[in-house]
Amino acid sequence: MKICARTDVHYAIRDVVAWADKVPGEKIHLNIGDPDKFDFDTPEWVKEGMIRAIRDGKNYYGRSEGNPEVLKAIAQRDEKFSGRAPDHSIVTQGVAESIEFLFASLMDKGDNILLPSPIYPQYLAACTMNCGEPREYHCIEEEGWNPDPEDMRKKIDDRTRAIVIINPNNPTGAIYSKKFLQGVVDVAAEHDVPIISDEIYDMITFDDYTPMSSLAKDVKLVSLNGISKNYLSPGWRMGYSSFYNCDELYESCLRLARIRLCANTPASYGLLAAYTGDDSHIEPLKKKLLTRRDLMMKRFDEMGLHCVEPKGAFYAFPQCPGDDREFVKGLLEKEKVLTVFGSGFGEQGKGHFRVVFLPDEATLSEACDRIERYVKSL
Ligand SMILES: Cc1ncc(COP(=O)(O)O)c(C=O)c1O
Repeated sequence: MKICARTDVHYAIRDVVAWADKVPGEKIHLNIGDPDKFDFDTPEWVKEGMIRAIRDGKNYYGRSEGNPEVLKAIAQRDEKFSGRAPDHSIVTQGVAESIEFLFASLMDKGDNILLPSPIYPQYLAACTMNCGEPREYHCIEEEGWNPDPEDMRKKIDDRTRAIVIINPNNPTGAIYSKKFLQGVVDVAAEHDVPIISDEIYDMITFDDYTPMSSLAKDVKLVSLNGISKNYLSPGWRMGYSSFYNCDELYESCLRLARIRLCANTPASYGLLAAYTGDDSHIEPLKKKLLTRRDLMMKRFDEMGLHCVEPKGAFYAFPQCPGDDREFVKGLLEKEKVLTVFGSGFGEQGKGHFRVVFLPDEATLSEACDRIERYVKSL
């Protein structure tokens, strides 16, 4: 049977689970960015929003772009957050589906999209799936993993169809400074290419944060967001894309949205409840995460693993000795701690590994003891 080359895609975050399945015994999982697998849960009022929708009979196919009251809540939230409401939004099955619509709309064979390196792996796969080239630009580790606009300028050409940024970042936990964001806007303006700004962690911040839509006023912009992380509901698959100054791209994504009918209607009412609630879960969430981040940073420092301090989200991306795949495999086999090899996040991920700091302190301490023992054994 012929299987198309464009399906030769990889997603390191889940690919390592197949390795773990072959290793007997209990493992400590530091590989997956799912807070609900640890001691976090969806806020009650968000759950109520979805349950109420089911009870009220909203179990029908919704509109392909999302129902009007849900779109209104998104526009109001975006405006409150960045001072600017989008021209249009489309509700999708997680940010994952927004990425699929955008890349399918933008890429033909021979086109490229500029991606930050290291990069959340779905973006690499989305290029392969659309027969396009993922072209990685540098993020500067010494500058808190901020993106390098000069490297973007070197890599951009007349087949570049978009520039992606992820802020706050997975896998590095970086929050981009205004200066660097302005640099990205300047490059996009010079070449008239749209910016795709993935902001799915924009409420999980431990430092000043600037939404791209507040800066990128005169360029084409799509911002991506959802409730998987900010409202602790990744299993609901509820996200959206918001379009600024790019009606044609919106129309194309809308055509793609129609062929898959609609996103999950009851879950979209969970998003409505989230966006009209009081966000009282955020401060306790950040407090817990900060304690865990600080614990991990202290331990990495003590064991001599260099790690840029994460300023947002719940990932840390330390350097590791030797080949990162071998390091992660060895750590799993010898100490039963599951992490993700950095090269799974693209070129600049090499020589690093990604951990989540979602587990409670006792589990994290145990994981750090094991990592330390493993590092010393090398
Ligand atoms: C940067 C980034 N974008 C998108 C996603 C996928 O989000 P969703 O659950 O909304 O599909 C993730 C999930 O980890 C992510 O880290």
